[in-house]
Amino acid sequence: MRASNAKFLIWILCALCLSSSLLSEFTPDDNFLIDCGSSSNNTVGDRLFLSDNNPNGKSLSSTSKVSTSSELDMFSSLFQTAKVFETTFLYNFKIKKQGRHWIRLYFYPFVSGNFSLSLAKFSVSAQNITLLKEFQIKSGSIIKEYSLNLTSSNLVLTFTPIVNSFAFINALEVVSVPDELIPLTVTGVEKVQNSLGNRALETVARVNMGNQTVLPDNDTLSRLWVADGPFLMHNDQVVVGKFVSNLTKVNMTGGLEIKAPRLVYGTATRLGADADTFVNVNVSWSFDVDPGYEYLIRYHFCDIIDLSLGSMIFNVYVNSWKVDHLDLGNVTSNIPGTPHVLDTIASPMDSSKFKISVGPTNFHEFSTAILNGVEIMKISDSRRSLDEPSFGLDSKKGSNVKVGLIAGLVAGLVVLAILATLVIVLSRRRRRSALVRHLKEEENLGVNGRECNYTVGSVAFLNSKFGYRYSLAAIQEATDNFSESLAIGVGGFGKVYKGMLRDNTEVAVKRGTSKSMQGLAEFQTEIEMLSQFRHRHLVSLIGYCDEQNEMIIIYEYMEKGTLKDHLYGSELPSLSWKQRLDICVGSARGLHYLHTGSTKAIIHRDVKTANILLDQNYMAKVADFGLSKIGPEFDKTHVSTAVKGSFGYLDPEYLTTQQLTEKSDVYSFGVVMFEVLCGRPVIDPSLPREKVNLIEWVMRRKDKDQLEAIVDARIIEQIKLESLKKYVETAEKCLAECGMDRPTMGNVLWNLECALQLQGDEKSRHGKESSSQADLSNHWEASVSTTQFSTGSAVDIASMSMSKVFAQMVRDDMR
Ligand SMILES: *[C@@H]1O[C@H](CO)[C@@H](O)[C@H](O)[C@H]1NC(C)=O
Ligand SMILES: *[C@@H]1O[C@H](CO)[C@@H](O)[C@H](O)[C@H]1NC(C)=O
Ligand SMILES: *[C@@H]1O[C@H](CO)[C@@H](O)[C@H](O)[C@H]1NC(C)=O
Ligand SMILES: *[C@@H]1O[C@H](CO)[C@@H](O)[C@H](O)[C@H]1NC(C)=O
Ligand SMILES: *[C@@H]1O[C@H](CO)[C@@H](O)[C@H](O)[C@H]1NC(C)=O
Ligand SMILES: *[C@@H]1O[C@H](CO)[C@@H](O)[C@H](O)[C@H]1NC(C)=O
Ligand SMILES: *[C@@H]1O[C@H](CO)[C@@H](O)[C@H](O)[C@H]1NC(C)=O
Ligand SMILES: *[C@@H]1O[C@H](CO)[C@@H](O)[C@H](O)[C@H]1NC(C)=O
Ligand SMILES: *[C@@H]1O[C@H](CO)[C@@H](O)[C@H](O)[C@H]1NC(C)=O
Ligand SMILES: *[C@@H]1O[C@H](CO)[C@@H](O)[C@H](O)[C@H]1NC(C)=O
Repeated sequence: MRASNAKFLIWILCALCLSSSLLSEFTPDDNFLIDCGSSSNNTVGDRLFLSDNNPNGKSLSSTSKVSTSSELDMFSSLFQTAKVFETTFLYNFKIKKQGRHWIRLYFYPFVSGNFSLSLAKFSVSAQNITLLKEFQIKSGSIIKEYSLNLTSSNLVLTFTPIVNSFAFINALEVVSVPDELIPLTVTGVEKVQNSLGNRALETVARVNMGNQTVLPDNDTLSRLWVADGPFLMHNDQVVVGKFVSNLTKVNMTGGLEIKAPRLVYGTATRLGADADTFVNVNVSWSFDVDPGYEYLIRYHFCDIIDLSLGSMIFNVYVNSWKVDHLDLGNVTSNIPGTPHVLDTIASPMDSSKFKISVGPTNFHEFSTAILNGVEIMKISDSRRSLDEPSFGLDSKKGSNVKVGLIAGLVAGLVVLAILATLVIVLSRRRRRSALVRHLKEEENLGVNGRECNYTVGSVAFLNSKFGYRYSLAAIQEATDNFSESLAIGVGGFGKVYKGMLRDNTEVAVKRGTSKSMQGLAEFQTEIEMLSQFRHRHLVSLIGYCDEQNEMIIIYEYMEKGTLKDHLYGSELPSLSWKQRLDICVGSARGLHYLHTGSTKAIIHRDVKTANILLDQNYMAKVADFGLSKIGPEFDKTHVSTAVKGSFGYLDPEYLTTQQLTEKSDVYSFGVVMFEVLCGRPVIDPSLPREKVNLIEWVMRRKDKDQLEAIVDARIIEQIKLESLKKYVETAEKCLAECGMDRPTMGNVLWNLECALQLQGDEKSRHGKESSSQADLSNHWEASVSTTQFSTGSAVDIASMSMSKVFAQMVRDDMR
C-alpha cells in the first residue's frame, strides 16, 4: 500500500528527528522537518530538514536559480526541490504529544524543464480544517504558517489537486508549540471571551518593529519576524515614528522568550522623532486581511528607551477600536525592560485592512508610545476553514456562491444555504451595531475621563485635529470669570490670565479681543501649530475655546514668566551665565525642532525674549506661534506683502526681499543671544544715541575687540573668556547680512553646547548660583502677579507690534 509505505517512512524520519534536539530553549516533542522532493538532508540555519525519499509523487528539481525575497533567502535550498502530486495525497504524522502544533508549508513555483509549478492548483487540509482552498501561486516564494490543536495521535495532511491540475510542496514542518503560547480564551470587542482551544490559526503577519528582520534562527520557536518598515503609514505633516533599539535593556527573566525573542523586544518604533518630542498623532501600520474572519491580534511591548521626560502611557488601537489604555510602567511593575504582551480579537468588518496604531491618550500630558512587535492570526471560522470566500459581506462573492448552489444542488440545500447566509449576515450586523454602541460609549468615556467634573453644558470636546476644545463656562470658572487679579500679562492681542482647571492644573489663558491685532487667522495658526506637536522646549497647548466669538488659548503655566523679565526691566534677580546659556540651548533646541521636526520647516517669525518662557526649573520653552508659517516652499510661490515680526528682531534680508526662510528665525535668535549677554533691551531710546540699537552698538564694540564692555555687568565675573568668545562668535554669525551666511539652528545649538562646555562646571561658582536661585524663588512668591507673559512695560519697545513701534518712533522723533 502506498499510503502505509509513506506512513512508515515518515515514522522513521520523525524518530531520527526527535533524537537530535536542535533548539536550546524550547525542545518540541514533535519536530518533523521535511525537504520535499530532495534526496539529501538539508541544514537550514541550525535546523536539519530531512530528505523526503517517499516513493509516492514525483520529485522535481528547479532547473534555474532560486530567487526569493531577502527574508526567505536562507530557505532557498529548500525551494530547490519539490514533490508533485497529480491525485489526492496524504502526509501522515504520528503525534507524540497532543496540543497545539505549527504546520508550515513552503511553496516556490519553480520551472523544471517544460514543467512549471505555477500551473498547480490545489487544496490542503489538516484534521478536517481547510488550510488552503484552490490555492495557486504564480510567482515568488511563500511560507504558510498555521497552528492547530491536534487532539489525536495522528495528523493527516491532505493535498487535493483540482480536476486536471496537480499539487506541489517544497518543504513542510509539523512542530510542537509550547502550551503557553496561545491562551485558551482571549477577550475581544465588548469584553467577549473567545475560546481559542479548538480553533485553528493562520499567521497573517508577524512583524518586528524597529525595521529589523528577525530570522527563525534567532527565535527559539523558529518564527520569522519581518521588518515593519513596509507596513508603517506615513504622515506628511510630522515625523511620526522613529526606529529605536537597545537589546541590553530587555529583561527576559519573566520567561517571555516563548512569546517573542529578545531581538523583537530589543527594537521598537516609538512615537515622536526624539526623546523631547511629543506629537499629537498616532503611529500606525496597515495590514491586508481577509474580511469575514476574526483575528487574534497580539501586541508586544517593551520600554527600551530611557525617557528623560514624561511617561509610557498610551492608547492601543485596531482600526478605530481602542483596545487598551496602557500604562506600560504599571503593567510591568516598573521593572525596566520587562516585556508586556497584549492579546485581543477583532474583525476588520467590511474593510480588508487592519490599521494597528499606538498614540497619545491625552495630549495634555507628556507621554509617548512604543510598539515592539505585532502578530495577526486569522481564526478558523465555524465551517472549520481558514480559506473560504467570505459570505454575506461581499455581495458579489455571495451571489456567485448562490448561483453555484442553485445550478448544482437540490432545492432543499439552497434554502439551507440561504438561511445560513442570512444567519451569518444578521449576526454580523448585530455584532456590528454592538460595536458601534461600544465605540460610542468609549468616546463618551474619553471625554468624561478628562473633564468629568464639569456640569452638563461645559464638557470639553475632544477634537482629534485641534486637541481639546473647552467651553467658555469652564474657562470662566478657571479664571474666576477673567478676574483682573489673575491677569499676568497684556499685549496687542488681549490679556493673559493665570487659571486653575478643575483637576488642579495651573494654566495660562490667553484671551484675544475681537478688535485685536492678532486676528482670527493667527488664533487658528497658533492652535494648529501647537496641536500638531509637543516638544520639551515648545510651550504646550492645553486647549482652546472659540465659543461666542471668543479666541481663547490655554497653555501650560510657565511659572517663571518670560526670559525678558529676567534680563531687565523688572525687580527679578539676575540669571547666572550658566542659567542664561542653558536657556539659550533650550530655546535653540525648540527652534531647531520647529525647523527640522516636520517634513516642511516651520518658521516661527517672532523669536524674541518676550516669547521665550521659563518653567519652575528655568527650563526654556518657545511660545507664541501666532505668526508661524510653514516654509520656505510656501513663500516661494506666494510672497507675503505683510512683513510681520517684532521690531529690532527682524531679519533685514526678509525686510527687503520678503522671502521668508528659517534663517530669519536664526537672525532673530542672534539678537536674543546678545540681549541675553548684555541684559538690555534691543532698542532702548533712553540711552545715548550710539547705544540705542543693541545690535549696532554691539557690532561696533565687537570690532574693537572690546568684548567685555558689552557684557551685562552682573555676570561679567562668572564668564570664562573662551565661553564668551564662542558665544559671541556664534551670535555674530546669526546676524550675518545674508541668510545663506547664517548657520542653521542645529549649528547654533551645537556651538551653544560648546560654549556651555567651555564654561565648565565649577563647584565654586555653583555655590553662588544656588544661593541666587534660592533668592530668586523666594522673590518669585511675592512677584507672581507682576510677572508678565508678553508685551509689558511701556519702555519696552522691543516686544511691541510693528505698527505700534513705528507710531512710537514717530512720536519720539517729533519730540
Ligand atoms: C539524513 O540524516 C539522518 C539523520 O541524521 C540520517 O540518518 C540519514 O542517513 C540522512 N540521509 C541522507 C540521505 O543523508
Ligand atoms: C515535457 O518534455 C518531455 C521530454 O523531456 C516530454 O516527454 C513531455 O511530453 C513534455 N511535456 C509537455 C507538457 O510538453
Ligand atoms: C474528519 O471528518 C471525518 C468525517 O466527517 C470524521 O470521521 C473524522 O473523525 C474527522 N477527523 C477529525 C480529526 O476531526
Ligand atoms: C486542545 O483541545 C483540548 C480539547 O478540546 C483542550 O482540552 C486543550 O486545552 C487544547 N489545548 C490548547 C493548547 O489549546
Ligand atoms: C542570529 O542568528 C545568527 C545565526 O545563528 C547568529 O549568527 C547571530 O549572531 C544571531 N543574532 C543575534 C543578534 O543574536
Ligand atoms: C526599513 O529598512 C529597509 C531595509 O533596510 C529600508 O530599505 C527601508 O527604507 C526602511 N524603512 C523605513 C521606513 O525607513
Ligand atoms: C541600553 O540600556 C542600558 C540598560 O538600561 C543602558 O545602560 C544603556 O545606556 C542603553 N543604551 C543606549 C544606547 O541607550
Ligand atoms: C529583571 O526582572 C526581574 C523580575 O522579573 C527582577 O527581579 C530583576 O531585578 C530584573 N533585572 C534587572 C536587571 O532589572
Ligand atoms: C488615533 O487613532 C484613533 C482611532 O482611529 C483615533 O480615535 C484618535 O483620534 C487618533 N489619535 C490621534 C492623536 O490622531
Ligand atoms: C498600577 O495601577 C494600579 C491602579 O491605579 C495601582 O493600584 C497599582 O499600585 C499600580 N502598580 C504599579 C506597579 O505602579
